[in-house]
Amino acid sequence: MLSFSSLAVLGLTLLSRASATILQNGQVRETNFPNTRIDPSAYSFKTYPANATEISYKGRWDSKHVSWWSAPGIKFGYTGQTVAISFGNLTTDGVLVGYRIGGLDWTFTNITAGATHLLVSPDYPGAALTGPINPWTFEMRVTNWAYGVQIDAVHVASGEKLVKIPDFGRRIEVIGDSLASGMYTSYEGLSSWAYGLGEGLGNTEYSVTAYPGICAADQDCWGNPHGQSHQWFYTSDTSYRASVIHGDNPEPWDFSKQPAADIAVIMIGTNDNNEHNNVSTTAYIDALTKIIQGVHGKWPNAQVVVMSLWLGFYQSGNTYLPNAPQGWVKEIQKLVKWFNSDDYLRNPLAYDGVTKKTTKVKGKGKDKPFVHWFNTAGILQHNDIGPQWHPTDVGAIKVASHLQQYIKNTFGWELYATGPEVWHETLYWNDQSGY
Ligand SMILES: *[C@@H]1O[C@H](CO)[C@@H](O)[C@H](O)[C@H]1NC(C)=O
Ligand SMILES: *[C@@H]1O[C@H](CO)[C@@H](O)[C@H](O)[C@H]1NC(C)=O
Ligand SMILES: *[C@@H]1O[C@H](CO)[C@@H](O)[C@H](O)[C@H]1NC(C)=O
Ligand SMILES: *[C@@H]1O[C@H](CO)[C@@H](O)[C@H](O)[C@H]1NC(C)=O
Repeated sequence: MLSFSSLAVLGLTLLSRASATILQNGQVRETNFPNTRIDPSAYSFKTYPANATEISYKGRWDSKHVSWWSAPGIKFGYTGQTVAISFGNLTTDGVLVGYRIGGLDWTFTNITAGATHLLVSPDYPGAALTGPINPWTFEMRVTNWAYGVQIDAVHVASGEKLVKIPDFGRRIEVIGDSLASGMYTSYEGLSSWAYGLGEGLGNTEYSVTAYPGICAADQDCWGNPHGQSHQWFYTSDTSYRASVIHGDNPEPWDFSKQPAADIAVIMIGTNDNNEHNNVSTTAYIDALTKIIQGVHGKWPNAQVVVMSLWLGFYQSGNTYLPNAPQGWVKEIQKLVKWFNSDDYLRNPLAYDGVTKKTTKVKGKGKDKPFVHWFNTAGILQHNDIGPQWHPTDVGAIKVASHLQQYIKNTFGWELYATGPEVWHETLYWNDQSGY
């Protein structure tokens, strides 16, 4: 979901430099992001190219190692106490990234296009701590969906090395719009419920294919040239940046690059539901059908969780009520029921958004019910939604927490995140007992 005025603002900032000012209730939030830019000629490094097999790419990255969508990242193990990264000139200048070593808290820093940044050094807090996580792991994620980085090279200290870290054994995909991408939360993608779901489950790989303003229906919505029934099949998103870097030739996403997702969480339709975009119920349901058939075709064993849409609240007399209707509730429920019916499962179909073809699903598990409805009603209250119609940090945490429990109860997934920070700067406490 996105209001027209905020989209206009987003469009303008895309043309200029990323700004690292974070606003909190309209005030500038105090940040102490370290300046990590260095002159690499003053260092002696062992250097790995962006395509080194030791570097794992999380989320969607293109053949030039440029990141796309929300909270894409890289992860690797390393020896020594030094990690530096050289960023290519397709990096959004000034983009804010979060990075961490082992299970320590996220650090944020802004990145200069074409520059080298020293992210870990012997001075970095905790750099010398040995164990229990071995080898040392480094992870970095981009905060903003519309901005990205290009990895040119990764450096460690001379005589040290990168170590490949195996992927976790389970995998989640979130397909959505601004509500999933983290628009208007403090650290954007890294404060979104979609990131919080994946990170908060623990021991889970996650990819957030979400972009503000995008519809399910393949049409222009708030300036996004395509909807998810098309764009989910591509590496890049619907940003202005993508139009500059890929022009009319976006790279289809190579689904064989990463293992199949076990669960795909889909929350798409608030932009279709906005009359500004003029999407009919039929067109919306057709597009959502294609997205689900897309997931089923690419990953025949994946379970699909379709979330109900929320559209904010309004004051009604002396209380608050959800904006009604909540967005095609009956129609989505009917679609979920149809997908799980014998009628459909006798002949399950796979849609491909690149070829625009529908074929039979191949693979095991294709004839079992696989689509679930997750009802979000009752999770968010009116003060969990900010003035720009998106969840606050607290709202995002609530949605992620409920989803985690739902996934645990429905699919038997244990919750493995038992310590390391998920939500940065959400330690709100009261340390005086009487006032
Ligand atoms: C981060 O970027 C902002 C502008 O986007 C700039 O004002 C600030 O100086 C940068 N901070 C560092 C540490 O480079
Ligand atoms: C990385 O790219 C270089 C240059 O294109 C190529 O020679 C090399 O084989 C690639 N390495 C891997 C591991 O793909
Ligand atoms: C970007 O980097 C590439 C590869 O290093 C170089 O060939 C190209 O000239 C650079 N472009 C700009 C605009 O700096
Ligand atoms: C909305 O869609 C309907 C049906 O396709 C069409 O007749 C109408 O002109 C559209 N309105 C706008 C503002 O595009």
